[in-house]
Amino acid sequence: MVEEAAEKCSRTGSTRRTSFSTGSAWTLFAAGAVCGAVFTMVWIGGGDARAVAAASADTDEFRALRAEVERLASIVPDQAHAMADVGVHFTNLWFAARAKNWPLADFYLAETRSHLKWAVRIRPIRQTKAGDIDLNGILEAIDNSLLAEVKAAVDQQDLKRFESAYRQTIEGCYACHKASEKPFIRPQIPGAADQHIINIEPDVSWPE
Ligand code: HEC
Repeated sequence: MVEEAAEKCSRTGSTRRTSFSTGSAWTLFAAGAVCGAVFTMVWIGGGDARAVAAASADTDEFRALRAEVERLASIVPDQAHAMADVGVHFTNLWFAARAKNWPLADFYLAETRSHLKWAVRIRPIRQTKAGDIDLNGILEAIDNSLLAEVKAAVDQQDLKRFESAYRQTIEGCYACHKASEKPFIRPQIPGAADQHIINIEPDVSWPE
């Protein structure tokens, strides 16, 4: 029964693939999801043939799923949005460390790293005149070397080491901007914090 469902699924999957051949990977993803659902139903139901027939014939469900995937893709923030967040977190990291507020510095560093990863997940490959650029590979190299060094400095609460690692990381940020044909996005040591609602000072008495 399960084999039968799997076989049916691969058939419907392939018809769907051809009928949406101009579509994107989303189509394949959606077809896979529908097949997965059908398969699970059979597995759980111990083989209700009517359930299989009903679900695999249910193209309305498939269309709704496809529309939903497209809607979700259209509301995901763009890479520049995620990068602007990186800018805020990385700026505040500088001031938190200079104030020797190490737990806050650690927080902003973690936010910087996770938002960089998010930015790259949004658009892992960029097309440039020099060919396709693998942003994921560039980020991994920066994360494992430069940002790991910033983390070590924060963990050791070593301001001198931190400042040097921070400067080098800025060069790493810029290397990726240049590789992405955006040499005009040139980061610098920030002159003022990007957010003032969070108190950067470590020893304050209010709010308690
Ligand atoms: C893996 C590549 C990569 C790395 C590493 C990287 N960036 Fe970016 N950054 C980009 C790309 C690509 C854009 C342009 C995004 C776009 O136009 O969609 C960008 C844009 C930006 C922007 C402009 C966002 C806006 O729209 O206002 C800022 C700020 C920024 N990056 C800060 C940083 C900082 C700070 C670092 C280092 C801590 C960094 N970036 C590291 C690729 C990278």
